[in-house]
Amino acid sequence: MDGLPIAFQLKGRGVLVVGGGTTALRKLRLLVKTSAEITVIASTPDSDLISYAAETGLTLIKRQFSASDLSNKVMVISATGNPSLDNSVSEAAKGRNIPINVPDRPDLCTFHIPSIVDRDPVVIAISTSGNAPVLARHIRERIEKLLPKNIGKLAKFAREFRSAVKSMIPSAQDRLNLWESVLAGPIAQKVLSGKITMAREDMVKLVNQIPEKADHGIVHIVGVGPGDPDLLTLKAFRLMQTADVIVYDRLISTEILDLARRDADRIFVGKSKGYHHKTQDEINQILATKARAGKRVIRLKGGDPFLFGRGGEEMKHLHQCDIPVEIVPGITAATGCAASLGIPLTHRGIAAGVTFITGHGFNGAPNIDWTGLSRSDNTIVIYMGLSRAREIAEKLMTNGMRSNMPVAVIENGTRTDERTIVGVLEELPQLISEHDLSGPSLLIIGKTVNEMTSPISHDLLSDLPQAIAV
Ligand SMILES: C[S@@+](CC[C@H](N)C(=O)[O-])C[C@H]1O[C@@H](n2cnc3c(N)ncnc32)[C@H](O)[C@@H]1O
Repeated sequence: MDGLPIAFQLKGRGVLVVGGGTTALRKLRLLVKTSAEITVIASTPDSDLISYAAETGLTLIKRQFSASDLSNKVMVISATGNPSLDNSVSEAAKGRNIPINVPDRPDLCTFHIPSIVDRDPVVIAISTSGNAPVLARHIRERIEKLLPKNIGKLAKFAREFRSAVKSMIPSAQDRLNLWESVLAGPIAQKVLSGKITMAREDMVKLVNQIPEKADHGIVHIVGVGPGDPDLLTLKAFRLMQTADVIVYDRLISTEILDLARRDADRIFVGKSKGYHHKTQDEINQILATKARAGKRVIRLKGGDPFLFGRGGEEMKHLHQCDIPVEIVPGITAATGCAASLGIPLTHRGIAAGVTFITGHGFNGAPNIDWTGLSRSDNTIVIYMGLSRAREIAEKLMTNGMRSNMPVAVIENGTRTDERTIVGVLEELPQLISEHDLSGPSLLIIGKTVNEMTSPISHDLLSDLPQAIAV
């Protein structure tokens, strides 16, 4: 991140705009929403700009820019459309360390003006650091649609009660819990639907009833899907915004972690095959200890917590400790990877079912009915199967599965570095050993692999000497 988004306080401070055309006018329309003291310098301003200055009361000076115009200014925008004049304004501003923006000239800027969602006092800035202003506008339009119209009223409502809440509730944690429940609950809903008087009455009651003791904590065991942050559920996303503590492991992508509340404590409890940073008991202890301290703990799990995720073990332990726990399902790697590749896991007339198995059992090899599996028409999805791929392929073939059954291996499915290898069952171990797969990988075995519809652009597919036999 080269630029840090900040909210610059402009109330009563001098801002200079140089230029008298439509670009300058567009910037002025934004600036007048602040309480800055705005001066415009333009030798021949457009008539629209002249009327706008008269209408809004900003100072318009009709003459050439001079460096002395910068005195007492805290920000400058040069939108003259004249490259050499913009250049001189930029140099003069930079020489005095005054932030300068020149529309469409990133080389002359020391700051960019983000795309803005304005629900004053709630303001959201979207910046692409000058790389793609149109993309910023698209993102803004999506946020505009998502955000309740009255969100600014909610912020004003919170400000109205802030000092009362502070004086009534001494503990910072209790205050945080109160605001979390107010903003996510019926009081906020009333404000958002315009029933402010009712919301005020409820709020007064709530503040007067608040128990002295801090609330007990809670653990949310949250599935976040296979890696693509767009596959998060809304519930997972919302909980990640309110967490006090985030406990995560190596399957959680950085893009997903970046969406979590910034000031939450983050605890890495990564495990990788054969090497345990933290044992399951230690993880259980961390979850319980943090929740007992009154924290809202989010235990992030790759995929779905109840599919090969040990979510059940963590839930059981927390129940035994009498700690409230909630499970939030996620998109499991099988469905995420299948969707990404366009492989239907069931398909009428081809696969009547799907079986999820793990390549790792509780104590070594998994206890699996290989005969039933080899002879059924089910698609088989194998989690954690890479290191046992040879054994798995042999078991399936000796129990009756045809050796040219299509297989797909997907590494880092749904992530930007997703890779796919396709082939047939008998060559599965060789395919895996030929490619250096280090990320989480899934095996899909069955006739539906042939139904793969997505255009595969992954490098590995074209490397294959033998593509799948359709
Ligand atoms: C401990 S299991 C967790 C499974 C997870 N709970 C789920 O529902 O997807 C880890 C295994 O899931 C599979 N896996 C998880 N994410 C994956 C991804 N993005 N691409 C391919 N396989 C993945 C791999 O087989 C990996 O070894």
